[in-house]
Amino acid sequence: MLKPNAHYTELKDSYLFYHIAQKTKAYLDVHPGAHLYRMGIGDVSQPLCKAAIDALHTAVDDQAQESTFHGYMPECGAPFLREAIAAHYAARDVALDADEVFVSSGASDELGDILDLFERGSTVLIPEPAYPAYVDANVIAGNRIVHLPTGKAQGFLPLPDTKIEADVIYLCSPSNPTGAVLSRAQLQQWIDHANRTGAVILFDAAYEAFIEDGALPHSIFELPGARTCAIEICSLSKTAGFTGTRLGYTVLPKTLERCGQNLNAMWVRNRTTKTNGISYILQKGGAAIFTQEGQTQIKAQIAVYKRNAKILTDALNDCGIWYTGGKNAPYIWLECPGGMKSWDFFDYLLQNAQIIGTPGAGFGACAEGYFRFSCFGSVQETTMAAKRLKEVC
Ligand code: MLT
Repeated sequence: MLKPNAHYTELKDSYLFYHIAQKTKAYLDVHPGAHLYRMGIGDVSQPLCKAAIDALHTAVDDQAQESTFHGYMPECGAPFLREAIAAHYAARDVALDADEVFVSSGASDELGDILDLFERGSTVLIPEPAYPAYVDANVIAGNRIVHLPTGKAQGFLPLPDTKIEADVIYLCSPSNPTGAVLSRAQLQQWIDHANRTGAVILFDAAYEAFIEDGALPHSIFELPGARTCAIEICSLSKTAGFTGTRLGYTVLPKTLERCGQNLNAMWVRNRTTKTNGISYILQKGGAAIFTQEGQTQIKAQIAVYKRNAKILTDALNDCGIWYTGGKNAPYIWLECPGGMKSWDFFDYLLQNAQIIGTPGAGFGACAEGYFRFSCFGSVQETTMAAKRLKEVC
């Protein structure tokens, strides 16, 4: 008799953002036509930049001609895109071979898929508040999760604890959901810890493009020792508006080995078995982001989201609500006013201001009492939302 994966029974009833979508739908069923200010899931509002759109159009036309048509793409990514990404790192003084870059269908897909590299039942350290997919993907994989809570007193920044032994360590910097960014010295502590203990760091850099403080690292590979302990997972979703288009990349150095096995070679073996590559059209659109024109255009888009952050933080200042983030990240992390629990604050904002945010409790037990706003809406919507927030808080 077939036995389903029993670990599914250990998951919460529904995934955080699905649960929010269900609650939103229930509200709209009772208030049809209500206008909602959506600052929950971090979904972008600006269209793809011109450089990407032009490249996508050209690639579609390429598929119409026998001489330029592409069928299956290389499983680990097209050389033109792998080389463009390696050159982007080189501009930041990080030397990579193009075959250390793996093109993916996005960071969230990759963060779960990459667990194929590790033995089932591995011990996984997840600093919290954390993106909930880290936890759920590891529950499904049957791994042992060790939660490392952080709080306001340490700026929501995790540091290694020598008493905790883990095989895999998740780090997200800039953090989703708190917007906190590990300094070079803090990240170096994690790298040294991982090299000492043999752990592998899964470094989620999906929000690196939002860093504006020049002293903060964008990539873990800017620091010494990372090539023997880290895998970096990146995405064009937030950087370039690809949430619905789907494209990302993973940097897995050829120098990363454990127990005599080379993880880069293992990932090549995995991808060549489990995927047939990302479409030619998408990879052409993605490569355009790494041109000078593409970089200028996405920086202008990020500036719009930063403007939203300023609008929201000004409103929070007026309300006297404590917050962090919004500077080097597209998320604002705030304390629920009046000691409210986070799902109660969610309901309060929805009912009274038609604002949707994300309750802290969805990011781990230590995040109860906090709340997240995404800054990815339009300036007009964000301005209206800030006004309504001030009316009810
Ligand atoms: C978020 O809101 O945390 C993200 O948009 C979710 C994701 O990237 O999958």
